[in-house]
Amino acid sequence: MESMSECGKILFDGETIANRVSELAGRISRDYARKELVLVCVLKGAVMFTTDLARGISVPVTMEFIQAASYGGATASSGNVVIKKDLDTDIAGRHVLLVDTIIDTGGTMNNLLRMLAARGPAGLGVAVLLDKRCKRAIDVPIAYRGFEIDDLFVVGYGMDYGERYRNLPYIALLDAPGRP
Ligand code: IMP
Ligand code: MG
Repeated sequence: MESMSECGKILFDGETIANRVSELAGRISRDYARKELVLVCVLKGAVMFTTDLARGISVPVTMEFIQAASYGGATASSGNVVIKKDLDTDIAGRHVLLVDTIIDTGGTMNNLLRMLAARGPAGLGVAVLLDKRCKRAIDVPIAYRGFEIDDLFVVGYGMDYGERYRNLPYIALLDAPGRP
């Protein structure tokens, strides 16, 4: 299939992802026992991770979606973030967990965290499936981390290259000429 030709080695297969997501969901369920959790999915990449996580969490959960405008490679360290799609609900006094599939420089997460913190949640945590820790430019506290990876560009399980490959049920290295 031509559309698969840019995909290289599989780093995490579907079963490995499912097992790790379910471990994280178990920890979240214990940590938020007797609380109600607002899961905030960072569109578009975190759709698969958030929905799988949500299904493994045993405390009451509501789901919200947020989308930041892309700055290309810029980290927008000013703390100003342009929101394409905002939450539908007020998070003041609520327990919020911001969910993304991958953290790289930390710019996106940092900007979203600052914006959401200003709305006065009772708690604000971060869950990421993949952490490119070696690329971090801004320190971001991560409460739940799936796997640490090297400086590799990956696709699948929600993550794209030019909007493609989000639907792959595994995470693979991108193997395209001129890749980021
Ligand atoms: P950061 O702001 O540099 O931390 O970048 C985070 C965002 O960049 C993620 O939400 C992804 O959209 C994107 N991103 C970073 N690394 C990758 C990758 O390896 N594959 C696909 N998207 C990535
Ligand atoms: Mg992308």
